[in-house]
Amino acid sequence: MSRHEVVVELGERSYPVIVGRGVSGEVERFIPATARRAVIVTQEGLPTIDLRAFPHTTLRIGRGEEHKTLATIEDLCRGFAAFGLTRNDVVVAVGGGMVTDVAGFAASTWHRGTAVVHVATSLLGMVDAAIGGKTGVNIPEGKNLVGAFWQPNAVLCDLDHLDSLPPSEIRCGLGEVAKYHFISGRDMLAMDLDERVATCARIKARIVSEDEREGGARALLNYGHTLAHAIETVGRHSVAHGEAVAMGLVFAARLAHRLGRIDSNRVQQHHEVVGQVYGLAERPTNSLDVDELLVAMTRDKKATSGLTFVLDSVRGLEVVPDIDPAIVSSVLTEYLAS
Ligand SMILES: NC(=O)c1ccc[n+]([C@@H]2O[C@H](COP(=O)([O-])OP(=O)(O)OC[C@H]3O[C@@H](n4cnc5c(N)ncnc54)[C@H](O)[C@@H]3O)[C@@H](O)[C@H]2O)c1
Repeated sequence: MSRHEVVVELGERSYPVIVGRGVSGEVERFIPATARRAVIVTQEGLPTIDLRAFPHTTLRIGRGEEHKTLATIEDLCRGFAAFGLTRNDVVVAVGGGMVTDVAGFAASTWHRGTAVVHVATSLLGMVDAAIGGKTGVNIPEGKNLVGAFWQPNAVLCDLDHLDSLPPSEIRCGLGEVAKYHFISGRDMLAMDLDERVATCARIKARIVSEDEREGGARALLNYGHTLAHAIETVGRHSVAHGEAVAMGLVFAARLAHRLGRIDSNRVQQHHEVVGQVYGLAERPTNSLDVDELLVAMTRDKKATSGLTFVLDSVRGLEVVPDIDPAIVSSVLTEYLAS
């Protein structure tokens, strides 16, 4: 298995995403020269990293989306203050997407911006969440509604960490991998694990480099996410993010078909890739209220102009604003009952 290095090109804020076995051992290389101490932000029971003699403390946050809150940010910042973390120091996030989102947001606001290094420990974190500088927390009205763009100094994807990841969390990561399958048209599952993670990281790095603040191409990374975020919010996080993304991909294909953008073969392909190739659930099994899902989708961050989805077409993926709510509601009702 090889070591891969992918660069997120953002001028002087460029940084590497390093993929391979044992690469978390390189973390000290990415601690800024100005730093005198580090705070490791992680969760109970996750793989640990060794900062050896570098002065540090560890702060643990709760597991699960219900802890992805402003209250957790306040707890962390109070922990930073108690440890005497300065703006020249560094935060090291060790965990899945939840930890890197929360620790990244705390770092972005601590003294108006303190360096952060991400050690992604989940598949979803490695292929997506830890890369690209989007950080944030949830409020009851929706997912990730409060946050900041804050690029890390490096992202380390240590494949050894996946050995302890439960199968349900591997499935979550596969939901995002399936998204890259449709974005790139490449069969990720045919690749070895290191190549698969590096390929996904390369796709994300390229899109972020082109469009850091999501003015254009980056929005395509939200394929499947409009319904996914609504399923997570309305279902009170009973469906995990990556699994919800897989469902969102299937729904988006059905909506694109109803709008005359793709033919039924392409919809069938979405069902096959998600359900058979990646072995993921194509729709939620618990009953979710269509009206509540519609309200949640209207609050989606992309919805600056009515109901907005990333949808497939013969030209590829596109952001489609202002979709008639009656059509979305009808396709959603049909999809949930299918
Ligand atoms: N910032 C972004 O661009 C972006 C992109 C996609 C998703 N996200 C966010 O990422 C989050 C989902 O990330 P996730 O799926 O990694 O969830 P997560 O961080 O909640 O991790 C899932 C579970 O796996 C555990 N875990 C993580 N690594 C482990 C390991 N190596 N061994 C054993 N257990 C381990 C965690 O403690 C947790 O219980 C969501 O909050 C989502 O909004 C952010």
